[in-house]
Amino acid sequence: MILRYFTNGLLRLLFMTLIVTLIGIITLTYNWPKGADVESVPQSTVGAAEDPEPTAASSEPLASIRLDDVLLAEPRPTPGQSIFFHETSCYDVKNKNLNILKLTARQACAIESAALHNPNFQVFVLFVDRKYSHVVDPNVGNRSIQQPLFDAILSYSNVHLRRLNLWRYAAGTPMEEWLREGNLFRSRYLVSHISDFLRYLTLFRYGGLYLDMDVVVLRSMEDIPPNYTGAESDTFLAAGIMNLAASGFGHQIAASCLHDFQTNFDGNVWGQNGPEVITRVAQQICGTKNISVMQTNRKRCLGFKVFGRGAFYAVTSDKWLNFFNPHKLEETLARTKDSYAVHVWNSQSEKKPIKIGSTCAYAKYAEKNCPRAYHAAGEYF
Ligand SMILES: *[C@@H]1O[C@H](CO)[C@@H](O)[C@H](O)[C@H]1NC(C)=O
Ligand SMILES: *[C@@H]1O[C@H](CO)[C@@H](O)[C@H](O)[C@H]1NC(C)=O
Ligand SMILES: *[C@@H]1O[C@H](CO)[C@@H](O)[C@H](O)[C@H]1NC(C)=O
Repeated sequence: MILRYFTNGLLRLLFMTLIVTLIGIITLTYNWPKGADVESVPQSTVGAAEDPEPTAASSEPLASIRLDDVLLAEPRPTPGQSIFFHETSCYDVKNKNLNILKLTARQACAIESAALHNPNFQVFVLFVDRKYSHVVDPNVGNRSIQQPLFDAILSYSNVHLRRLNLWRYAAGTPMEEWLREGNLFRSRYLVSHISDFLRYLTLFRYGGLYLDMDVVVLRSMEDIPPNYTGAESDTFLAAGIMNLAASGFGHQIAASCLHDFQTNFDGNVWGQNGPEVITRVAQQICGTKNISVMQTNRKRCLGFKVFGRGAFYAVTSDKWLNFFNPHKLEETLARTKDSYAVHVWNSQSEKKPIKIGSTCAYAKYAEKNCPRAYHAAGEYF
């Protein structure tokens, strides 16, 4: 009897354990709806789950944004009617958390201003990527609160966030072989040189308008005929704002830029592979080294247009503080009143915070040309 009770009890216990385990398994496998945080980003950016979810998304109140590959996701960039930004910080050695998707308020401002003034163009923000999914960082360097910034730019239907894998992006282009040789990765200025590499590659792939992340677009650029760049000084053209047509001579110029990039690449010199590339290529096309001759004579450059400083770089890099100084407001606004865009020289200016409501020129441009990012910035822009 005692033995029987014992075995019955044991069986009952085993049975109960089995039931509990089964319920556990069913609960775990069943695809419960994801937390509301995941859905707080607009649906268009949250693709079908083919890649693993970032682990932090389930335990912390962070939003997860899935970035689809620019080569595959719809809509694809329309040749000649697309604007491109590149974010390359995943190659920053100081960047320890590659799962975190970062955007400063100023970068969001550049993106918003491009989308706002060019509603017929599609704006692609390409995050160079070594990971598949990202978590939005709520508070990067506490200059900005992230989710509201992403919400601000994604409230424009012509903004698309995409991921870009260097190797796949270069495949099938004249850069594929060169990339494999590895010189790029031995650069002393890796983040910056990858950014240089990509702007020419993007213009080769799609044509259209490339913009640096440290610009504010002030008016529509949709009607500017393709194939142009701007001068930043008497001796250099700049590579922060460039447009090349996707076909014909514009595409040939892009090919020349890729060729020049490879031939003259130097990982030890910061500016060698950005502005200097387009400068050398334009000098060949125009048959002169003289930048002011290039500007006044478009025929001479076979149709390639070199804008004077006023178009994009009205405030030169040595005067970058003028953007931040309320006493220079009038002077700076007057200087840029006919500009298409301003370039704010992030490498010098990034550590200079602006209190929201400031009366410096940069704050004024932001209020007007990227109102949502500006207001999402928090206390400082
Ligand atoms: C960042 O946070 C620290 C500590 O919370 C604060 O003292 C500082 O003022 C903040 N900086 C900015 C730019 O918001
Ligand atoms: C460039 O050409 C302009 C106009 O012909 C001339 O005034 C200027 O001195 C030239 N600059 C250089 C650096 O040769
Ligand atoms: C510029 O782009 C247009 C449009 O594709 C093309 O017809 C023209 O030949 C190009 N000109 C130059 C100089 O690249």
